[in-house]
Amino acid sequence: MCGIIGYIGKKAAAPTIYGGLLRLEYRGYDSAGIAVSDGRKVRQVKLAGRVNLLEGRLSALCGNAGIGHTRWATHGAPDDVNAHPHRAGKITIVHNGIIENYAELKREALALGETFLSETDSEVIACLINRYYRGKILPALKEACGRLRGSYAILAICEGEDGIAVAKNKSPVVIGCGADGTYVSSDIPALAGLCGEVCIAEDGDYAFLTAEGFEIYDGALNRVSRPMQKNRALPEDVDKGGYPHFMLKEIYRSPRAAEDTVRAFGGVKQKFCKYAEGTGRVILAGCGTAYNSCLAARRYFESFARVPCEVETAGEYRYKNPVITPSTLVIAVSQSGETADTVEAAALARGRGAKVIAVTNAPFSALTRIAGLTVPVAAGFEVCVAATKSYTGQLAALYLMAKALGGGDPSPLEEAPSKIKAALDDMDICAVADMCVHSRGVYFLGRDLDYATALEASLKLKEVSYIQCEGYAAGELKHGALALIDGEKTAVTIISDPALAGKCENAVEQVISRGGKVAVITTLAQVASAFGGRAEVVLLPQCDKYVAPLVTAAAVQVLAYRCAVLLGRNPDMPRNLAKSVTVE
Ligand code: AGP
Repeated sequence: MCGIIGYIGKKAAAPTIYGGLLRLEYRGYDSAGIAVSDGRKVRQVKLAGRVNLLEGRLSALCGNAGIGHTRWATHGAPDDVNAHPHRAGKITIVHNGIIENYAELKREALALGETFLSETDSEVIACLINRYYRGKILPALKEACGRLRGSYAILAICEGEDGIAVAKNKSPVVIGCGADGTYVSSDIPALAGLCGEVCIAEDGDYAFLTAEGFEIYDGALNRVSRPMQKNRALPEDVDKGGYPHFMLKEIYRSPRAAEDTVRAFGGVKQKFCKYAEGTGRVILAGCGTAYNSCLAARRYFESFARVPCEVETAGEYRYKNPVITPSTLVIAVSQSGETADTVEAAALARGRGAKVIAVTNAPFSALTRIAGLTVPVAAGFEVCVAATKSYTGQLAALYLMAKALGGGDPSPLEEAPSKIKAALDDMDICAVADMCVHSRGVYFLGRDLDYATALEASLKLKEVSYIQCEGYAAGELKHGALALIDGEKTAVTIISDPALAGKCENAVEQVISRGGKVAVITTLAQVASAFGGRAEVVLLPQCDKYVAPLVTAAAVQVLAYRCAVLLGRNPDMPRNLAKSVTVE
């Protein structure tokens, strides 16, 4: 949700910042811009569209200090004028977040005769810093932040003053020193190979970067120290590794995500069991794909631990008046650990006395600071906006938590990596993809755990291909959606539970008899032979029914990917989306 990066040091700033923006582009790709100071003057370039459009303009930017931004538009159209950086007087800023009281601040500024070029909320920040500037940018930034309501990570530079000033509230900021200068960024992967260690700033922190290093300050501008963390990001994490897209690379890393998550759980299992002792009710919360993993996990907690379990979209949960008792365990699931709705839902639950566990792929994220315990998803950095291997990792972590809570044997999960790998190596889903891209609508059907996969399949397909699609509980089809079925619609049914196979087959028959196009994705050989010749069938390796969601997920992810490619979409950067949704 907007990526920001700053650099000050010995190198030319423009190409350094440009390289960082390319790595941050998954956070937003509506526009991009860079401002560079040569010590006396600050020059900037900014353009609507992808980061690479800036490449030909970098020579206009000379100097060793600069800031850059890649935008996911919230206020104002994604055009050149609204692109960051924004400037007022000698001050130039980039901002990630939302300023909730910007309209009021803008009215005040206009009354004072100050002027604005853009429709963004961010421009008021530059305007305020400029108003409060008395020869030092950091105190002016602090004074400006005192007027802001909302979320922000701000980088600010001033013409004639060395250094980059930073402010953070609810939007991530990571700072590190490299061999040739000092860096600040929205995310750790942008600093892969540049900084061996990084410091994660906390809400309310300010920082000032020079070529020699950085200092962190609290809200009163007193110096504070923050721990340095090893930067685990490697340059290959942010490289396609020979695959045409990050999405495909990351799907093929799913077996590893499952394996590494199982290993990582070994390190927290005891703590988890102690923390979750006495749990009488589980609430699972997340957004998007994380929410879908919660839907599958509900079955895990109910079946393995026999505890009542509810699933909430985090954005709804944070605005209800939830019933929380001392035995309520809230599990907040988030790949990024930054999603505003999930972070706020977790904070609400914690504030009301619930035990809160973060299940996340981002070990130093905001969510982990709120939770009483973090259970890691060890999927490795995920760059593609569409979540794939992190979904697999979430399912593995939640499976293990439910087993540990119930005291059951988790060994069936050990087969997951090899089954996913076999599915990826052997399946041919091209005919189903072809069917989907030539349809006027796609319905994913499934029961129980397969219903969660159906919803995830639908989210993934719509996200990367823009095909109109829905996920339905297979039994619900006949209660309404069947009216939509005709020769231009496709139903893709997922069947992995032998006990429910017959019931799901009924749904497939209903679609066939209404003339719809039909595909079946199954782990069951008998289902495959029942529909051979009458439907496109994808047969996956047979596996335990609770492990099957990890295997069927890989199939529907590849299906979505193939559809996107057939339609000429870029699956890594779906239109209108960004990977980390740090605003409401
Ligand atoms: C998944 O493909 C989507 N990009 C999106 O739904 C995502 O899962 C959601 O925004 C939640 O993100 P999080 O896991 O980082 O909290």
